[in-house]
Amino acid sequence: MTIWDNIYKNYQKGGEAWATLSEEIHPLFKQFLSQSNFELKHVLDIGCGTGKYLKILQAGGFKTDGIDSSETAVEMTKKILSNDSIIICVNMFELDIPKDKYDLVISISTIHHGTKEQVQNLINRIYEAIVENGKIFITVPDFESSKKWNTFKDHEEIAEGTFAPLSGPEKGLPHSFFTKDETQKLFSKFRDVNLELDEIGRWVAQASK
Ligand SMILES: C[S@@+](CC[C@H](N)C(=O)[O-])C[C@H]1O[C@@H](n2cnc3c(N)ncnc32)[C@H](O)[C@@H]1O
Repeated sequence: MTIWDNIYKNYQKGGEAWATLSEEIHPLFKQFLSQSNFELKHVLDIGCGTGKYLKILQAGGFKTDGIDSSETAVEMTKKILSNDSIIICVNMFELDIPKDKYDLVISISTIHHGTKEQVQNLINRIYEAIVENGKIFITVPDFESSKKWNTFKDHEEIAEGTFAPLSGPEKGLPHSFFTKDETQKLFSKFRDVNLELDEIGRWVAQASK
C-alpha cells in the first residue's frame, strides 16, 4: 500500500481532504483546454488521483487513459469514467509508455514524487509518448515556494534537491523541487513552452512537441 493509498482510504472514511483532494480543477487547465485543438483526443493522466481531470476530458470527447500507484485512486477513477477507459495501477517511474500514442499528457502535482533524475527521465519518455503537435500540461513544485509550505517544514534531503517530510500524511514520500531554470531544462525538448507559477507555488508547464 502506498502513502497516497492511505491518504485516499482515510479520506473515504471521512478524514482530511489532503492537498489536491480539496482542489478544484486548475484554472489554467480550463484555459488550456479551451484554447487547444486536439486531433486524436487521446489523453494519458499520470497520477490520475480521483479521476477528476479525466472526467472532464472524457466529457469533452477524449479517450482517457490514466495511471496511479494507489489502488484506491485507480478504483475511484474507474468508478467515475465509462468502461472504455484504461486505468492502471503502476509506478510511473516503471511505466512502459508506448511511443507516439497520445496527443495530450497531463500530470498534476505528481511527477515530482521521485528523484530529479527520475523526473527528467519520465518527462523525456512523455515526449516520446506524444505525437507531433501533441501537448502537455504538467506541474512541478517551485523550490523557493516550497520553503513556505506549512506541510513541509520538517524534512530531510534524501538526494540533491529531493526531500522527504519527516511527519504528516506524506511522511517519507520523495518530493523534488525545481527552480525556474531547472524547470525550463526539464521541458527543453518541447516547443512553445509556457511556464507559469501558480498561487500555491507550482510551475505549470504547457508545451507542444
Ligand atoms: C497530490 S496527488 C494528485 C492527484 C491528481 N493528479 C489531482 O491533481 O487531483 C498525487 C498522486 O500521485 C500518485 N503517485 C505518487 N507517486 C506515484 C508514482 N510513483 N507513480 C504513480 N502515481 C504516483 C498518488 O497516488 C496520488 O494520486
